[in-house]
Amino acid sequence: MPRPWIIPTLFFFQLIFATQPSNRSLTAAAGGGSWQLLQNNIGITAMHMQLLHNDRVIIFDRTDFGLSNLSLPNGQCRNDPTEKVIKVDCTAHSAEYDVLANSFRPLMVQTNVWCSSGAVTPDGTLIQTGGYNDGERKVRVYKPCSGGCDWSEVGDGLKARRWYATNHILPDGNQIVIGGRRQFNFEFYPKTTAPDVYSLPFLVQTNVPGVENNLYPFVFLNVDGNLFIFANNRAILFDYGKNKVVKTYPTIPGGEPRSYPSTGSAVLLPLKNLQSGAVEAEVLVCGGAPVGSYNQAMKGSFIKALDTCGRIKITDPNPQWAMETMPYPRVMGDMTLLPNGDVLIINGAAAGTAGWEFGRNPVLNPVLYQTDKPAGSRFESQNPTTIPRVYHSTAILLRDGRVLVGGSNPHIYYNFSGVLFPTELRLEAFYPSYLDAQFNNLRPKIVYPLSQASISYGQKLKVRFQVTGAITNSSVSVTMVAPSFTTHSFSMNQRLLVLGNEGVTNVGPARYDVQVTAPPSGVIAPSGYYMLFVVHQNIPSEGIWVKIM
Ligand SMILES: *[C@@H]1O[C@H](CO)[C@@H](O)[C@H](O)[C@H]1NC(C)=O
Ligand SMILES: *[C@@H]1O[C@H](CO)[C@@H](O)[C@H](O)[C@H]1NC(C)=O
Ligand SMILES: *[C@@H]1O[C@H](CO)[C@@H](O)[C@H](O)[C@H]1NC(C)=O
Ligand SMILES: *[C@@H]1O[C@H](CO)[C@@H](O)[C@H](O)[C@H]1NC(C)=O
Repeated sequence: MPRPWIIPTLFFFQLIFATQPSNRSLTAAAGGGSWQLLQNNIGITAMHMQLLHNDRVIIFDRTDFGLSNLSLPNGQCRNDPTEKVIKVDCTAHSAEYDVLANSFRPLMVQTNVWCSSGAVTPDGTLIQTGGYNDGERKVRVYKPCSGGCDWSEVGDGLKARRWYATNHILPDGNQIVIGGRRQFNFEFYPKTTAPDVYSLPFLVQTNVPGVENNLYPFVFLNVDGNLFIFANNRAILFDYGKNKVVKTYPTIPGGEPRSYPSTGSAVLLPLKNLQSGAVEAEVLVCGGAPVGSYNQAMKGSFIKALDTCGRIKITDPNPQWAMETMPYPRVMGDMTLLPNGDVLIINGAAAGTAGWEFGRNPVLNPVLYQTDKPAGSRFESQNPTTIPRVYHSTAILLRDGRVLVGGSNPHIYYNFSGVLFPTELRLEAFYPSYLDAQFNNLRPKIVYPLSQASISYGQKLKVRFQVTGAITNSSVSVTMVAPSFTTHSFSMNQRLLVLGNEGVTNVGPARYDVQVTAPPSGVIAPSGYYMLFVVHQNIPSEGIWVKIM
């Protein structure tokens, strides 16, 4: 869709004001998608979010924001003499959001989970690692259940402090924890072999003293079993088993930083042709803040964010970045893989950087990145929200195809008035246009397998679905999406597998079976729960949960 003329006009207007401390939002008339307010006040700010396979979202912020607006149940209080702000705190800093019921309840974390990381194990348990102060080496576990389950603390499960680290689930079901402030190393959880902490010089090389710009590195498990690690403005392919850099990628053109606090975002684009033995993998990195943004912001000057994305085929023998320009500049945006393989770029600001009080000009319009369209016609601006989502905001895909959006708190405390961007306790959903009623006759509905089905690697699988309108073989595809641990504009473990379509058979009125083959291995698809979708003419069904093992 061509860009409406109004966008460049507004955009120009915004640039004039980009360095002014204002809460002027960047918004534009645009196509596609709609918004719904889900909760007016969940009492905490959604700084970290993880969807579990019971359709509950685990949300948490930090224990040293002050008193939240959500009380702990049954008169419980946390009595923590090492706590920085409130030693006896009877409010919650974590919550469980029940997507199906649109309700939430408080959870209790014992130690500070601020700016931490996590991943879900193959059995569906959330393992959260690190944080700040008394939480910096802690590991906490959340086992999903239908009743009143809560966090349990494992204790000091980490050897190094991990604050602003990135986790990734590995093919063996363990997780790797990479980096964090002043940590130029990585470790595994649980511990496997000594030594416990391994140095990673790449994190020294990408560290900018006083500014960093290499925190929350963008980490993806490549199809060859190595990890792609992007920090600051460049990336390596890393054999974590041998602690060896296998490949060094070119610096992203322009050389501007993309990771925290220059906070762009990144996704591993959908993996296809999974049975071919030669799967190609591409990474897309978008937005961020130019060199110097952090120091300028400290002086009260808020520089225009980056408006470029770089796309690179990480499996290519001679990989090169291809650059594209987004309709808006964006720092602190989230990138969310949609079931049809497109990427939603959402949240964030058009000026400034991550850090307390440092974002300006929130970008209210999400942008759709249409992965399979030719370069030059991939971006489509979407309808805007009314709620700025700046520092400490999040977005995750839900099983029904909506995107859950929450958080935003650029302040050291919960500040609800007298600030440019008040602490945000509201939860919203973005409805991509594939959910529009006009597509109901194209929308598949999965009949079986039933949700929670187990599948094994390489298994032949028939997925039965209903569609009211006519279908053709070539317009049907099956995809699997891993739910991510999302914080600080990066969705750890986010992964979309295109199982494709090995033939569609009509098995009754408006009923079809699509034949597919499950992913071949834990390198392509680490064991665990995924949302499985049938996509027809780009319109996804509601997903079902499957467990691959
Ligand atoms: C949160 O609680 C404080 C103190 O009780 C109150 O002043 C404030 O209005 C509440 N904010 C929201 C958004 O509910
Ligand atoms: C936020 O609130 C705290 C107290 O709750 C206050 O001390 C602080 O000045 C406020 N911050 C801003 C930026 O207004
Ligand atoms: C921010 O913008 C809104 C809407 O334009 C306005 O109502 C509000 O007063 C502004 N807040 C500040 C702190 O300037
Ligand atoms: C899909 O293709 C297969 C074989 O290629 C054919 O048998 C089947 O009838 C086709 N299904 C539809 C719905 O066209």
